[in-house]
Amino acid sequence: MENTKKVSSAPSILSAIQKLRFLLTKEEKVKWLGIVGFALFSSFFEIITASLVVIFAQVLNQPEFGIKYLSMVGLEGNLSPGRVVFYIAIAVGGVYLVKNLVAAAEAFYQNFSIQKMSYHFKNKLLYRYAEADYAFYLTRNSSLGLAVVGGDSELMFSGGMMSIAIILSESTIFLCLIGMIIFMNPSLAFMIFAIGATFGFTMVKGLLPQFYKWGQRLQEASLFCSQNLLQFFHGFKEIVLLGKREAFIDAYRHYSHKKSRVQALQTATNVLPRLVIETLFVGIFVLAIAILCFDHESPVQMIGILGGYLYAGFRLMPGLNRIINQLNILKSSISSVDRVCNEYTSIAVKKTYEDVPNFKFDELINLTNVSFRYLNTEKDALQNIFLDIKKGECIGIIGETGSGKSTLVDIILGLLKPYHGQVLIDNKFTVSSYQWHQKIGYVPQSVYLIDDAIEANIAFGEKEIDKIKLNAAIDAAQLRKFINNLPQGSKTIVGERGIRLSGGERQRIAIARALYRNPEVLIFDEATSALDNETEARLMKTIQAVSKNRTVIMIAHRLTTLKECDRIVMMKQGQVNQIASYENLQKIR
Ligand SMILES: Nc1ncnc2c1ncn2[C@@H]1O[C@H](COP(=O)(O)OP(=O)(O)O)[C@@H](O)[C@H]1O
Ligand SMILES: [Mg+2]
Repeated sequence: MENTKKVSSAPSILSAIQKLRFLLTKEEKVKWLGIVGFALFSSFFEIITASLVVIFAQVLNQPEFGIKYLSMVGLEGNLSPGRVVFYIAIAVGGVYLVKNLVAAAEAFYQNFSIQKMSYHFKNKLLYRYAEADYAFYLTRNSSLGLAVVGGDSELMFSGGMMSIAIILSESTIFLCLIGMIIFMNPSLAFMIFAIGATFGFTMVKGLLPQFYKWGQRLQEASLFCSQNLLQFFHGFKEIVLLGKREAFIDAYRHYSHKKSRVQALQTATNVLPRLVIETLFVGIFVLAIAILCFDHESPVQMIGILGGYLYAGFRLMPGLNRIINQLNILKSSISSVDRVCNEYTSIAVKKTYEDVPNFKFDELINLTNVSFRYLNTEKDALQNIFLDIKKGECIGIIGETGSGKSTLVDIILGLLKPYHGQVLIDNKFTVSSYQWHQKIGYVPQSVYLIDDAIEANIAFGEKEIDKIKLNAAIDAAQLRKFINNLPQGSKTIVGERGIRLSGGERQRIAIARALYRNPEVLIFDEATSALDNETEARLMKTIQAVSKNRTVIMIAHRLTTLKECDRIVMMKQGQVNQIASYENLQKIR
């Protein structure tokens, strides 16, 4: 605890690098090293080009130099000055071409590798979310999930990792070029270095913390922007009816304004270093001419030396600028790295759902002294529940809202884990397993429909829809007449969250979805509450028909819905109040 606090309160580049090292796999790190390696390789060409330009400028001035250089690469003989210049010119041109080819290849390699890593990481993160505990999921906000998987992890790669690679390679070129200038003229090099260092230091001290702050602000504003947008679109009906259009638009506008201001500030401020550097270097260049003129009698002699400086200077300048820009980008992406890291470590550390050898459900579902409490709450939602549900039995659950009916079902589904007691199948198999989930058809209280065709919603997530199973499910869920009346039949698109359907139609699609897999166990959580009496009565008949050889657990609002159940469990304030037959319960009431 102490340690994590320390890391988050010191948002340094080093801590971000530590977090990146933690988040990335070994292969990813190797791949990233490849990017740095490639960048260094192309820097190496840059330096060769720079040296050749310096040599070329020198040779133009004094061809004797050229003969010396050419003999170094094995070209000897009595060469005329023109020939010497010719060879060196060809060499400069050739190396320049190669350098830029390498730079082009580097750009492609860099971007493709980074994007590929980002893509893999996002998948990995989503898989981690997929393994998360349902209880953990209940504490989450979907805008945050969207922001972390969508925005932050992308920025972590395209901003964070990429900038570290660029900073490394650019710094290498920078230092090498400075080295070259030291070789040519130590005092000038020292001057450039001193000015560059002072300038760099001021930038780092003054600008970087600012960029970190802006990064944080941007992150926060983006989150609220998307949250407000989502709420605006999801709650449109309520917003219109309650006359709160202005309020919701204002809430969005507030954060959107904040976001755009920070973005403008970031982008504009990132231009400043270039302007300052340009001014400084022109100054240095003018100063250099002044100093050199002082030493050299004839200005013509200076052409050679200056040509080199010119190149070095004009390469140094954007180089330094890029280093500072990338530092700013890195700094502003630190908060994204932080958030990804936080999210990554807080999601499922251990696997929530086990992959066990497939088992057969033969006898009973057995709850022994089960107590459950939701995360961040003070009160038990379920307390000391003992319940045996025999295979083939139809169990009804009834009770006031908030009495724990849905929670009880979620426990039986293995979605929630009791903090005390246990839930077992046939006294030995765990309910927190994919194998148990596969045996269940579950119809929730609030149905989630995807914005796709009715049939895609029934075969939920299945690429190849089995027509026979589909038709059987449609018939059993009393959807046939409804579908036949649609021009596009079962291919009709239902709209986001099924917005184009009535509540009863949505519930029947959910029932068809549960039946499509032909499950052994059927669980209904107030699945018929949105239906009119007549449809409910008809659907109950079908449910009874499809329940013949199945185990059924059915939560209902009205006692009459549970008429056909073998036993009825009465829930009260998180406890089982009584278990009785329909007739007995009716008598008591
Ligand atoms: N995700 C949650 N976090 C905290 N408390 C919850 C959560 N879901 C339900 N509860 C609480 O648990 C109790 C039981 O809820 P639930 O099982 O949904 O009741 P029922 O289905 O009988 O209406 C209620 O008091 C409810 O407020
Ligand atoms: Mg409920």
